[in-house]
Amino acid sequence: MTDNTAETTGSPPTDVLATSPEGKAVVVTGGGTGIGRAVAHRFAEEGARVLVVGRTPGTLRETAREHPRIRTLATDITAPDGPDTVVETALEHFGRLDVLVNNAALGIGGTLDTLDPAGLDAQLATNLRAPMLLTRRALTALEKSSGTIVNLSTAGSLGRRAWPGMSVYGATKTALDFLTRTWAVELAPRGIRVVAVAPGVIDTGMATRNGASAEQYAAFLDDIRPRIPSGRVGSPEEIAWWVARLTDPLAGYANGTVLAVDGALSVQ
Ligand SMILES: NC(=O)c1ccc[n+]([C@@H]2O[C@H](COP(=O)([O-])OP(=O)(O)OC[C@H]3O[C@@H](n4cnc5c(N)ncnc54)[C@H](OP(=O)(O)O)[C@@H]3O)[C@@H](O)[C@H]2O)c1
Repeated sequence: MTDNTAETTGSPPTDVLATSPEGKAVVVTGGGTGIGRAVAHRFAEEGARVLVVGRTPGTLRETAREHPRIRTLATDITAPDGPDTVVETALEHFGRLDVLVNNAALGIGGTLDTLDPAGLDAQLATNLRAPMLLTRRALTALEKSSGTIVNLSTAGSLGRRAWPGMSVYGATKTALDFLTRTWAVELAPRGIRVVAVAPGVIDTGMATRNGASAEQYAAFLDDIRPRIPSGRVGSPEEIAWWVARLTDPLAGYANGTVLAVDGALSVQ
């Protein structure tokens, strides 16, 4: 039997370890609230320079408050010029791009018989089309830095699960997982990694930003909490930590990975 171990293992290539002395340059879409805000803060606290993108200037400003390493960009990532605006602004500020976090998403509930074409289009545009076109636009810059793309998926649509009432949202996230795997293979020869974090239930109030009342959201949390093996919902900071870790040089062998961070909700 031939031992080819020496040819197939080794240290990370040195270019993967090269970062700018001014720290990584990171773009976080949907960085004005919830998980995106926590991701921006985590990267900034670890010395990165961050551009947070969203449609609401006020929430973006709040994310950047007391964080001089965070810049803001109020733009709609689904707009025709969205991808150009995001990447060009990042390059103007930082001169490079090391990490793209595709975090912005809409999650509109409803069963098939209540499907609203406008809500369907908005979810497809925000959760799928925009990350596709933004990631494509960022490739040249990411190739220069041997960068990383981190997609925010969801544990709710992992594996062979069904998700009554969230079929469109779940379908966009399942598709995003497929893109994560496929782009990882396509982009590996260019030195770009593609990974995803699939959070479980994280208390960000996302549902209330997508049409649920405060009472409905509280009832949802009360209902699901006892069904989470870890016995609690997660915090945005617990997701942000994993997003940042997956961009560490020593995470360099994780590629095409969709990492569930969900208190074992999806494996019970
Ligand atoms: N919270 C959870 O339990 C949970 C669980 C699993 C997965 N996730 C995923 O984690 C990510 C973050 O979720 P979250 O809970 O933090 O939700 P969130 O607070 O509602 O964050 C979504 C962000 O996306 C931005 N956004 C929406 N449409 C946009 C557009 N067209 N252009 C630019 N920005 C846009 C929103 O800001 P504007 O409205 O100001 O644009 C908002 O800041 C999402 O991908 C979500 O699917 C969340």
